[in-house]
Amino acid sequence: MFIGIDFGTSNSAVSASDGAAVSLVPLEHGEATIPTALFFNAEEHRTAFGRQAVREYTEGTEGRLLRSIKSVLGGPLMEEKTMVAGRATGFDEIISFFLGHLRGLAQQHLDSELTQVVLGRPVHFVDDDAKRDAAAQAALKRAALGAGFRDVAFQFEPIAAALDYELGLREEEVVLVVDIGGGTSDFSVIRLGPARSTRADRQEDILASGGVHLGGTDFDRQLSLAAAMPALGYGSAATGGRIVPSSIYFDLATWHKINLLYSNKEMFAAEQLRFYYTEAAMHARLMQVLKHRHGHQIAGRVETAKIAVADGGDTSLDLDIVEGGLLVPVGEAMLTTATDEDIERIVDTAHETLKAAGIAPDAPLTLYFTGGSTGVRQLRQAFHARFARAKMVNGDMFSSVARGLGVHAARVFGEKKKKR
Ligand SMILES: Nc1ncnc2c1ncn2[C@@H]1O[C@H](COP(=O)(O)OP(=O)(O)OP(=O)(O)O)[C@@H](O)[C@H]1O
Ligand SMILES: [Mg+2]
Repeated sequence: MFIGIDFGTSNSAVSASDGAAVSLVPLEHGEATIPTALFFNAEEHRTAFGRQAVREYTEGTEGRLLRSIKSVLGGPLMEEKTMVAGRATGFDEIISFFLGHLRGLAQQHLDSELTQVVLGRPVHFVDDDAKRDAAAQAALKRAALGAGFRDVAFQFEPIAAALDYELGLREEEVVLVVDIGGGTSDFSVIRLGPARSTRADRQEDILASGGVHLGGTDFDRQLSLAAAMPALGYGSAATGGRIVPSSIYFDLATWHKINLLYSNKEMFAAEQLRFYYTEAAMHARLMQVLKHRHGHQIAGRVETAKIAVADGGDTSLDLDIVEGGLLVPVGEAMLTTATDEDIERIVDTAHETLKAAGIAPDAPLTLYFTGGSTGVRQLRQAFHARFARAKMVNGDMFSSVARGLGVHAARVFGEKKKKR
């Protein structure tokens, strides 16, 4: 069996293929996806993964939650260490640990030792910086080797999604894959069809790829800044007619930076900020969140609110953990305003990718949507508006990348085996 791993910013999935059929490996009580989350449980000195990790953290167990660890790849945090179970640990080690967990589950399920893997990767880990981008892939490869794999290959995530879609095609199509996940938006323009699918080398069918480091966690961040952070004093009045410093709120609204705020140094700095606030109560709320380490819980509630209004409707953000009875209404208009600019940049990047592919604007085109953030109605509408004549296909939001990676794994490793 050949396996592919979609190591996602928010969710991960694993597929297995024997070259004929591809299936998803059950990861958590039969679920095909697992949240990319680890919880180092300090009370019991063990690590929980996925939903279990989030649950233990939410229940208030002492320990350390890590989410969005993929966002660290290629960034400055990669060089830093973070305290886990009383030990300074590198992020590569943490990613390795997570991949090792996925490998273990797959081995158990398939009842065999797995040494080869195709890992998905975004088109750009880092925007406009080839060197740091290469460093990000190298770090992910090291993490996979550390997890026990010996032969690691990569495939772009949107190309993987295309390979999955192709399995069901009867005619040739030019497809723009739109994969909007948690951390990145990835695009590929690719020629697909039954006659092409069996070719080993698809290089000439891949007309262009592109991407931008924006996704659902950025929507969470913007919505948090619009809905949650103002309740903690973001944008509130400071002495001298200014507003209070905002960088702490940006970090608190950013999944992978929340933990950093809890160090002694940052807590001290946050405490000192009180001199700026004309409303002491606002600073008190901020400190309440930091002291009780409610950052992830607030981010989680913001994400839940986002999903609740993503397809229309209203909800409210419950901030009772900050102060009893604190509720902030969240509606479609608020989400639209908060995500407007990000969505615009995402659609622009898709448009540029199509241009780079040399596809005429009036040529027949299919848009294939995958990734959890394609659930945002405003985003789908923006694509409809820009690509009015294209055929729109909604793929499986959470599993098509993983399935395509399995398809690719069977092809690359199957070929290798034949050659030996
Ligand atoms: N129904 C929904 N509507 C809108 N957004 C959603 C919905 N369901 C999930 N999301 C968002 O989708 C994102 C996760 O999508 P997905 O699992 O495709 O990302 P990922 O593969 O982990 O990330 P990436 O590919 O960027 O590394 C999260 O930001 C989540 O909040
Ligand atoms: Mg993804």
